[in-house]
Amino acid sequence: MSNPSQAELIHKFKGISFTTRSSPELLNSLDAFDAREDDVLLVSYPKSGTHWLAGVITKLYNTPVTLTSPIEFGDISHLEELSQLSSKRIIPTHLDYNMLPPNFKNKKCKMIYISRNPKDTAVSMYHYYRDNPNLPTVETWTAFLELFLEGDVVCGPWFDHFLSWEEHKNDKNILFLFYEDMKKNLPKIVKEISIFLDINISDDDIEDICKKSSFSEMKNDVEKENSDPSHTVCALTSNRKLIFRKGTVGDWKNHFTPKQNLRFDEIFNEKMKLSKM
Ligand code: A3P
Repeated sequence: MSNPSQAELIHKFKGISFTTRSSPELLNSLDAFDAREDDVLLVSYPKSGTHWLAGVITKLYNTPVTLTSPIEFGDISHLEELSQLSSKRIIPTHLDYNMLPPNFKNKKCKMIYISRNPKDTAVSMYHYYRDNPNLPTVETWTAFLELFLEGDVVCGPWFDHFLSWEEHKNDKNILFLFYEDMKKNLPKIVKEISIFLDINISDDDIEDICKKSSFSEMKNDVEKENSDPSHTVCALTSNRKLIFRKGTVGDWKNHFTPKQNLRFDEIFNEKMKLSKM
C-alpha cells in the first residue's frame, strides 16, 4: 500500500494545519462547546511535555477526575461524549488561545500552559513527523526545520501559538509553565501546580509523584503496558509509544548546524519582538 498523501492527512482550518483526526465539523463546532467551571485545561504546542504534565496533574488529585482525549480530537460526536462525562474533566488541547471555545474563557476555567525551548520542540516534532503515520513524510531535518520556521506544520507556527497564550499569562486562571523548569526542579513545579489547583498535598506525596513521573518510569510504564498504550493527550496520535523519545533539554545541539542556529535566532528575535518573557 502506498503512503497516504499530504492531502489525506492534513487539512487547514482558519489557516492552521490540522490532521484529519480533527474533523472540520468538530473544529467548526468548538465555539459552541459548553465548559464547566471546574474544568481544567492542559494546553500546549505539540512536543512541549504535555504527557509529562498530564501524568503529574492526574496524580495530584485524590478525588475522581477524568483525563479526556484532546478537545479537538475526533469527529463531532466527541464533543457529545465529553459532555456526558460526570466526573471532573482535565481537558488537553493544542489549540491557540484564539481558537479556544469562548466558554472556557467566560467561565474562567483554570488553564495550565506548558512551553518548551522551540529549538528542542522543533527537534522533538521532527522525530514525531518521522515516526507518526498520521503526519506527512519529511525526508530530512533541514527540510523539516524550514517547514517549522515557516509555520507550515500541524498546529501552525510555534511563535503565534506561544504569543497568543503569553498575552494571557497574568490572567488569574492561567498558569504558565516551562519544560526546562520541570527538568530543573520538578518538586517545586508540582508544588506550584498544587497551589494553583487548590490541592493540599504533603512533601512526601510530592516526592512520590516526582518519582513516578520521571522519564524512565513513564517510558517503562508504556513499554510494560502499565498505562494504556492507545491513549494519548495529543490529537496527532493515539499511540503512546511514540511519545517518550529522549526527554532531555538541549537535544537541538545535536541537530542544528551553526548556520541553522543563526537563522533560527534571527527569526526568533524578529517574531518574538512582541514577547515580554
Ligand atoms: P523528546 O522528543 O525531546 O524526547 P508531548 O507530551 O507534548 O508530546 O511532548 C513529548 C516530549 O516530552 C518528548 O520529548 C518526550 O520524550 C518528553 N517527555 C515525556 N515525558 C517526559 C518526562 N517524564 N520527563 C521528561 N520529558 C518527557
